Amino acid sequence: MKHKKRSNFSNKLGFVLAAAGSAVGLGNLWRFPYLAAKYGGGIFLLVYLILAVTFGFTIMIGEIAIGRKTGLSAIGAFEKLDKKYTFIGYLASIVPIIILPYYSVIGGWVIKYFVDFISGNSVKAAKDGHFEAFISNPTQPIICFFIFILITAIIVFLGVEKGVEKVSKILMPVLAILTVGIAIYTATLPGSIDGLLYYVKPNFNHFSIKTVVAAMGQLFYSMSLAMGIMITYGSYMKKDVKIESSVTQIEIFDTCIAFFAGMMIVPAVFVFNNGDSSAINAGPGLMFITLPKVFNSMNLGSVIGLLFFILVLFAALTSSISLMETIVSIIHDKLHIGRKKATLIIAIFTCIVALPSSLGFGIWSGITPLGMSFLDFFDFISNSILMPIVAMLTCFFIGFVIKTDAIAEEVKLNSSFKREKLFVIMTKYIAPVLLLIILVSSILNALGIVKI
Ligand code: PFF
Repeated sequence: MKHKKRSNFSNKLGFVLAAAGSAVGLGNLWRFPYLAAKYGGGIFLLVYLILAVTFGFTIMIGEIAIGRKTGLSAIGAFEKLDKKYTFIGYLASIVPIIILPYYSVIGGWVIKYFVDFISGNSVKAAKDGHFEAFISNPTQPIICFFIFILITAIIVFLGVEKGVEKVSKILMPVLAILTVGIAIYTATLPGSIDGLLYYVKPNFNHFSIKTVVAAMGQLFYSMSLAMGIMITYGSYMKKDVKIESSVTQIEIFDTCIAFFAGMMIVPAVFVFNNGDSSAINAGPGLMFITLPKVFNSMNLGSVIGLLFFILVLFAALTSSISLMETIVSIIHDKLHIGRKKATLIIAIFTCIVALPSSLGFGIWSGITPLGMSFLDFFDFISNSILMPIVAMLTCFFIGFVIKTDAIAEEVKLNSSFKREKLFVIMTKYIAPVLLLIILVSSILNALGIVKI
């Protein structure tokens, strides 16, 4: 696999910040809260946390170590380690191609709210029905995702993503602080206590295998796992950076942002719907329906809301840039198409594939593949099918082809491997079996063969 000069992260902080930059995005702010709300609140949170310290830890260590060991991104890395398993790299590479279009649709929704707030329409944005009217409009959401893809493509086309990353390193901590601040504000609203309890207190009656499927998919999505991204990041990591403690830091950072995002949104749903619990099932629109109401109830809410949506837009853009960049590199390496031309092709492809995800909430709402909206369908294919398959194959590959020792050796280059036992048992036995169960049950459920 050919590569441009492979630059390295200069130190551990640089690596952690860059990987956290890819990890923190709409997955934390938009996706986590609506899934937590939908799948039982506290029980989802608990399952997510358990999976993060076991599965998330194991798979992230494995991917980063594979990347650093080979110095290559996904396809080349698997190829170098064992040619027969190159297909895992290809499979992982399909995931960003599926995610980017619908990610851009949500990015477009953020642009819409940013425009609402900057043009002084924050009160209107908080009205019931505002979001529904927007997403069912035949043209507005399309214009918005088009702008989002255009900005992403221009940055990738000009190759200035490093500049964007630099700015985002300053903006992301501001977003983190703002999220915590809004979460605390939400907690002080009268009536938030029921929502807060729903969000943090596990209710085992809400548990089902669906909780695990959803939490697992979210974990992969949020931490950019099982899609080749962390392999690429690992390939840029210097040999003297400690893998295990880096992984711990990225996980803590990513999980904290998701936790506070849920805390700013889920209790607010209870506050603004007079205890009507059906509102928590709003699905992908939850953040956009709820947050304007929170801002509307605040002093200076229109300014805080504007700042918030600018920062979310930035977080979304840094993620979409890294998604597009990944796809462009693959096309460039494998099909030998120039980077600029590849960017253009991907941008056009993304616009076309984004169309159904957007129209699925409006004029195409009658078409429901596997009973889902188009956006949910693409989300399901990537998060509940492809990512578990890639994760399962990666675990099998590490556990039985190159063997866990090969990874442990890489981790131990400069430090001890404290949770090596956990890593080995998870990789060889627990993860593959559980992933298989999850995969089969979510496919059977989607096909309507069993109800889980
Ligand atoms: N992890 C990102 C999020 O939570 O929003 C999504 C993502 C971004 C995945 C970039 C992959 C990627 F390359």
